Amino acid sequence: MSPELEAFLAERKRRVEEALAAQVRAWKESVPAHLLEAMEYSLLGGGKRIRPILSLAAFEACGGPSERQDLVMDFAVALECVHTYSLVHDDLPAMDDDDLRRGRPTCHVLFGEATAILAGDALLTEAFALLADGDEPERARLVGILARAAGAAGMVGGQQLDLLMAGRPDLAEVEEVHRRKTGALLRASLEGGAVAAGAAAERVAALCAYGEALGLAFQIADDILDVVGDPAKMGKRTGGDQAKGKPTYPALVGLERARQLAREAQMRAIAALEGMGEEADALRALAAYVVERAS
Ligand code: IPE
Ligand code: IPE
Ligand code: MG
Ligand code: MG
Ligand code: MG
Repeated sequence: MSPELEAFLAERKRRVEEALAAQVRAWKESVPAHLLEAMEYSLLGGGKRIRPILSLAAFEACGGPSERQDLVMDFAVALECVHTYSLVHDDLPAMDDDDLRRGRPTCHVLFGEATAILAGDALLTEAFALLADGDEPERARLVGILARAAGAAGMVGGQQLDLLMAGRPDLAEVEEVHRRKTGALLRASLEGGAVAAGAAAERVAALCAYGEALGLAFQIADDILDVVGDPAKMGKRTGGDQAKGKPTYPALVGLERARQLAREAQMRAIAALEGMGEEADALRALAAYVVERAS
């Protein structure tokens, strides 16, 4: 990773984590202590924060004005809440049954299954509460963008297909799972950032196309890292996909072809930004980083 990208990511991550911590403090007044502990443990427990960073990057690439910083940060925090909920539930015994996440025991290992389910429910629901809270007219649209990406036709639908897909699906079927379970929320990260900035429709569409391709590349990379990654670096165990017979790119087409398909998706992501100038350079660098992680 270039020093420029490293600095870009570190600065946005710091701001996102400050906003996440402030949100947890706000919940302290009203949320039962045990539930809050599980929510805080999962939400503030590390992670790359790639989705909120992408929202901020899209906002900046669209020239988002300073008076809308709070709006885009609320969207970024809501996204990370939804993403974290998806991980807490993804790790449950009934789903992937994983005991390590972000370098620590998973939520259900520490707090029990019932509390992990509730902490996920709470993070999902509170995401929309915080996004709805404010005067800007774009908030209703942002709620819709996040809800549709996370919902039955998006991430949750993808998780369902992921669980049902047995035997040897074809590549188009696996791509469909990946587009839903991971691509939908990645795409929403970009779309929300652009909408919060007040970008024109063509610009929003370009960022959506970028996000869709990036989302596919991201999940292919995640699949590859489950085979060849360093568990210490990733903070989660490897080898689980194969053990559970998950629908992944390496399982279907092998590592080298999977890497090539991830690079092709990266190129499609970068091509989607053709109409933009250097204001989109951070997004171009981010697309390269997502795929390089797995090469
Ligand atoms: C993991 O997401 C789940 C996928 C959709 C691949 P991340 O790789 O973004 O996980 P964190 O947030 O950095 O822990
Ligand atoms: C998870 O995909 C996608 C989600 C919606 C959470 P994975 O099951 O591959 O994610 P990891 O590898 O456990 O992070
Ligand atoms: Mg899973
Ligand atoms: Mg999993
Ligand atoms: Mg995985």
